[in-house]
Amino acid sequence: MSHTMVIFGASGDLTSRKLIPALYRLFQQGRLPTPTRIVGVARSPFTNEEWRNQLAVTTAKFAKHDFTPESWAAFSENVFYQSGDIATDEDFVQLKGLLDTLEANAKTTRVYYLSTMPQLYAPAITQLGKAGLADDSAGERRVVIEKPFGTDLATSRSLNDSIHKVFREDQIYRIDHYLGKETVQNMMILRFGNTIFEPLWNRNYIDHVQITCAEEVAVGRRGGYYDKSGILRDMFQNHLFQLLMITAMETPVRFNADIVRDEKVKVLRAVRRFQGSDYSESCIRGQYNGYLKEEGVPADSQTETFATLKLLIDNWRWKGVPFYLRSGKALSCRTTQIVIQFKEPPHLMFGGNRRVSPEANRLVIQIQPAEGLQLFFQSKIPDQEMNMRLSELDFRFDTGGRELPDSYQRLLQDALNGDASLFARSDEVEQAWQIIDPIMSAWRSPAAPSLAPYDVGGWGPEASTDWMKRDGRQWFDVCPVIQ
Ligand code: BG6
Repeated sequence: MSHTMVIFGASGDLTSRKLIPALYRLFQQGRLPTPTRIVGVARSPFTNEEWRNQLAVTTAKFAKHDFTPESWAAFSENVFYQSGDIATDEDFVQLKGLLDTLEANAKTTRVYYLSTMPQLYAPAITQLGKAGLADDSAGERRVVIEKPFGTDLATSRSLNDSIHKVFREDQIYRIDHYLGKETVQNMMILRFGNTIFEPLWNRNYIDHVQITCAEEVAVGRRGGYYDKSGILRDMFQNHLFQLLMITAMETPVRFNADIVRDEKVKVLRAVRRFQGSDYSESCIRGQYNGYLKEEGVPADSQTETFATLKLLIDNWRWKGVPFYLRSGKALSCRTTQIVIQFKEPPHLMFGGNRRVSPEANRLVIQIQPAEGLQLFFQSKIPDQEMNMRLSELDFRFDTGGRELPDSYQRLLQDALNGDASLFARSDEVEQAWQIIDPIMSAWRSPAAPSLAPYDVGGWGPEASTDWMKRDGRQWFDVCPVIQ
């Protein structure tokens, strides 16, 4: 079956850094459907040859040792460029002409990838509709939309409304690159491909869950964007909530896009909405020292670069189990991990008056950059009486020495093959905004909890450590060692 991927925003960073290297690797591995044409669209006036030459340089840089001039030559034969402006109807008519010529009337699946500035998503979709490019009588038509999907509930609804005028929901693929990570997908295998975890995965055995996405990098040159966004929009509404849903969802009956997403969205529906004192007590907001001097950041900015939220899920499985979500820039190290902290045994018969380690079982799911699991449990200290110590079972993804594939590889392949399981559905996105919006507004009001400063290179504000202590718990502040 013939396929075409049309990338709008072809001269942008994402296209050269992620999309083309991912498509190129898929091609090398024989995983791209044959033939797959790639058509880039942007305003700059390139010829096919000029665009291919530019991409050869960037792909050699980003695909690193996978790049060979021979396979690039074969891949790039199917790479084309069409200059065009999203505001100009005529450019879409020309694009249609080019696609019809390239596809030569063969039944073709077309995937339109919107990697433009977010404010152009709705106009681009409208133009696709007007030019007849969404008409699926000659083959399937899908549209992939990059993040951010709106900046709040109202804007995401209005974007959904605009898209739904042209494409059906089953044609829409909203990207969250966290879902393309192998270790995130492994969460589903861990939970639903084993029998030993599921019986314990509930309020009877789990004390609390911690989901941390720590980044060592600061905002760098993205200050202008970041200051308008802040960490709740940039990381929580999408990536952390995806991890929350996968950790907390019920078992889907099949691995099918709608069935999996039905279960995921139920989690967000069950998240207890903040009210009253929750806006100050169930969260911490922080800003790293030095943020105000970053390029593009106003000197009096109140934007948070660190946040924690304590969420409760009101259903039978999770009633009373807090989910602590935390993310921040300029922290000690880059680590994304999910900690399942089990309860202590109800009665400890070992140790007598001697000191015993009271630490209960803990399962740490390392998403990145370490990729694996650690299970902490008590064992006997050899050659002593019945004294125990915390021990660790360690699992690392065995990739045979190869790097795990970039998320975009998996996501682009799924978009081409029509599998939307790892993409966000409209109700998921809207539920997520319904949780985030009131918190954002409370944090932008005069009654907002104070913005706690923190030093670069630590684990966020001290207030965050104290906040956990007040709950009788502590953060798992460990940078994974990668072997
Ligand atoms: C992006 C955010 O969506 O995710 C960035 O805009 C953040 O601010 C990035 O750095 C983190 O992604 P990853 O895959 O590096 O954890």
